[in-house]
Amino acid sequence: MRRVIIDTDPGTDDALALLMALNCPDLHIEGITTVGGNATLAHTTRNALRLVEYVAGGRDVLVAAGADRPAQGSFSFAYHVHGTDGLGVDLPSTARKLHRADAVELIRDRALAAPGSVTVIALGPLTNVAAALDGRPDVAQAISEIVVMGGAVEVPGNVTPHAEFNIYEDPWSADAVFSSGVSVTLIGLDVTHRTFMRRDAGPQWFEGDSRSARLGNRILANSFRERADVQEFYLHDPLAVAAAIEPDILACRLAQVSVVTDGEQRGHTVVSYGDGPVRVALEVNVRRAVEVVRTLISD
Ligand code: RIB
Ligand code: CA
Repeated sequence: MRRVIIDTDPGTDDALALLMALNCPDLHIEGITTVGGNATLAHTTRNALRLVEYVAGGRDVLVAAGADRPAQGSFSFAYHVHGTDGLGVDLPSTARKLHRADAVELIRDRALAAPGSVTVIALGPLTNVAAALDGRPDVAQAISEIVVMGGAVEVPGNVTPHAEFNIYEDPWSADAVFSSGVSVTLIGLDVTHRTFMRRDAGPQWFEGDSRSARLGNRILANSFRERADVQEFYLHDPLAVAAAIEPDILACRLAQVSVVTDGEQRGHTVVSYGDGPVRVALEVNVRRAVEVVRTLISD
């Protein structure tokens, strides 16, 4: 049983990642923390609460809200990708309440309660994670690993030619996390652009009649309907969860990683291979990754 905190900006692919985690018997979700990014913090937090209630109603899953802006400036959002409210599909409203503490406090509390046992799976800008580590070497020591969906090392970015969205949105926080000394697995576009669901594989991308299968199919159907020119739905965040469950899905190289924080190359992940705290994912077992995603969302 792997103890995880999921930091997320749902977001359509985040939503699939949360469905996987909530359905996975091998993960114990210590908490879900929300951050702005794909959408406003208000939208990502509302989406997270509704997703948890819709698929795991009655379960005691802590949800805490975090940063509504990056370390500097503001988020640029991606409603054109994820839909008007960041999810693109309507979910029932919920009375589920936020945790009494904020995202930073939840990350710190859960990590310090079980030193060396908690993995943070970061699916959005790294603002909350960097804040939790800031000035707290005890927290850095306590977190076992940070599995990050982010970066573009040997491939072009998806926001600019140099930068992937999560890193571009808050390069300062990403640079701080990569230099914190905490063990990081960096799952970037190098592997997530190879891991996707095809439009023509639908409309039953996920099998069965469970709530998560039906919701997963609705999310993909709506995403493809709203983006007529798109043939693949990239499984960016689902791959991060799949890799946290089965690390052998990825082949990685150790490196030191820093991030360009301004100018034309803002958000570029600069990698120096050799010894270092970051495992950079460069190869992926696509067949197995997609199988893990489909199995955990189908019933
Ligand atoms: O670049 C892809 C990443 O940015 C994913 O996490 C997606 O949800 C967005 O946050
Ligand atoms: Ca995300």
